[in-house]
Amino acid sequence: MIRFEDVVRFYGDFQALAGVSFAIAKGEFVAIMGPSGCGKSTMLNILGLLDRPTSGRYVLDGADASSLADDKRTLLRRAKIGFVFQAFNLLPRLSAAENVSLPMSYAGVHSAEQRTRAEDLLHRVGLGRKCGRTPLELSGGERQRVGIARALANGPDILLADEPTGNLDSKSSAEILALFKELHAEGKTVILVTHDAGIGATAQRTLRMKDGRLQQA
Ligand SMILES: Nc1ncnc2c1ncn2[C@@H]1O[C@H](COP(=O)(O)OP(=O)(O)O)[C@@H](O)[C@H]1O
Ligand SMILES: [Mg+2]
Repeated sequence: MIRFEDVVRFYGDFQALAGVSFAIAKGEFVAIMGPSGCGKSTMLNILGLLDRPTSGRYVLDGADASSLADDKRTLLRRAKIGFVFQAFNLLPRLSAAENVSLPMSYAGVHSAEQRTRAEDLLHRVGLGRKCGRTPLELSGGERQRVGIARALANGPDILLADEPTGNLDSKSSAEILALFKELHAEGKTVILVTHDAGIGATAQRTLRMKDGRLQQA
């Protein structure tokens, strides 16, 4: 489903990824771990089609995503990928339901359908009674639930998360991890960047990075 072939990413003359190759099958639960600055976010951003390799290939469902034009990549991202951020990245003036609706509106979903689907998804992540709250009226763990519901908005096969529990206390972290496990059990391919050894232990497989390289696949 996902294949990196000798992926290199330079920022100016700094090499953040130094030739990374691996494959991830549909339905896997993978943790990406390693020290700060080793290239985890760079790797996840490329996986999420938010960034491109400087060289090498990223093959997603048989298509070379690294060489697609921007508009095609946007469509591919919308159709296949949900992205969860450490800092939640919710819009503060919008309600939980409106935040979850946003990716649907970009995808051209009818507004009545957006509303129904957003409420279903918020229910799914345990926030059925807080659809109308704004992010400031929610706890950190609840904000991340909204972030996950938003990532699920367009029914992606792949869920990517960059340190999704990095801003949360241990109880909220455990709840968010349980939610990712459930989504994995429902068939999603889940790829998490984490510093948390507990999360690493939960994943079926760990990709360990160091200095822009993969330690073990
Ligand atoms: N946009 C950027 N411009 C320049 N350097 C960057 C940029 N993004 C990341 N880097 C550098 O690339 C390296 C890897 O960053 P990153 O992928 O964010 O690491 P990690 O997520 O593992 O902490 C770091 O040294 C970081 O400073
Ligand atoms: Mg990072």
